[in-house]
Amino acid sequence: MKQVVLTGVKPTGMPHIGNYLGAIRPAIESANKGSQPFVFDNTDAASFFFIADYHALTTVKCAKELRRLTQEIACVWLACGLDPKKTVFYRQSDVPEIFELSVILGNYTAKGLLDRAHAFKDACQAGRDVNIGLYTYPVLMSADILAFGTNFVPAGKDQQQHIEIAQDIAQAFNAACGLQVLVVPMPRIAKDVAIIPGLDGRKMSKSYGNVIPLFCDEAELLRCIKRITTDSSAPDAPKPKDHLIFQLYKHFSGKDMDTRIGWGDAKQKLFEVINAALKPMRDKYNYYMENYGEVEKILTEGAARARVAARGTLERVRKAIGV
Ligand code: ADP
Ligand code: TRP
Repeated sequence: MKQVVLTGVKPTGMPHIGNYLGAIRPAIESANKGSQPFVFDNTDAASFFFIADYHALTTVKCAKELRRLTQEIACVWLACGLDPKKTVFYRQSDVPEIFELSVILGNYTAKGLLDRAHAFKDACQAGRDVNIGLYTYPVLMSADILAFGTNFVPAGKDQQQHIEIAQDIAQAFNAACGLQVLVVPMPRIAKDVAIIPGLDGRKMSKSYGNVIPLFCDEAELLRCIKRITTDSSAPDAPKPKDHLIFQLYKHFSGKDMDTRIGWGDAKQKLFEVINAALKPMRDKYNYYMENYGEVEKILTEGAARARVAARGTLERVRKAIGV
């Protein structure tokens, strides 16, 4: 039996090395390992990965920016090794079946379910402007998932509630039709992901402004590493092994750095291992950004494949509701 694995990313800017080590690298490793090469006229594709550009529309209202963010994220994932032969790689906005399904699913979604969604509740509590796109975000996300008969949705912990809403909606739809039309998806939440610390020692996060961008030029990378907070201990004094310089060094080289080292030298060594690890991917990223036509072709082909799979589900759904 085919097992469909699907996940998506919102294009929200250049990922940082915490996102790379905690989410991107494991997702690509598992997609490249688990999937069979996809054959166009055979919808047995096991792995779907997409750029959720309509989800970004809840906040990004500038066309140029949305286009740039989408391009960047597409190039990042390809540069990091996503193989479009093994994974159906597409842009959400290129698959209209998702949006038709979303309109249908809204009618099987209890309002209370959306009132309780974290993203909406947090925005209300913070007094931010809330639009209906944000309110119905979980319905669109359910359509993303349910359109492909998805069995598993790998995602970060923050997405668990959204996936549970997709389960509720699928069950409500099936119950209303008296048929098992929609597959009820299971979340696959990464549990033991090491938290990568940021420049100030807290969790590396966009919201803390303490990140090392995944792809930036070498001078910028060195500048970031030099900003890592250190103390005034003497060069030959042993330093705490859990300091983020030593932690990051281990993540990227697989080896321990001797802690009897001056902070300046330690930073230089760290720069060298990170730069060596990222350079081939950064070169690929720059190549794709400069030759975006190639990426566009990959995404267009991916969308054609995705539509074949989504159309099958939509036909069953339309029949079940009587349209
Ligand atoms: P941010 O906190 O920078 O906004 P996101 O919440 O967008 O990051 O996270 C996207 C993905 O990257 C999630 O799967 C999350 O678990 C992972 N991730 C984010 N920050 C880190 C980190 N510092 N260490 C490990 N994984 C991380
Ligand atoms: N909401 C997810 C996020 O913010 C992105 C996303 C949209 C997604 N649709 C999805 C993830 C479907 C998994 C499955 O990260």
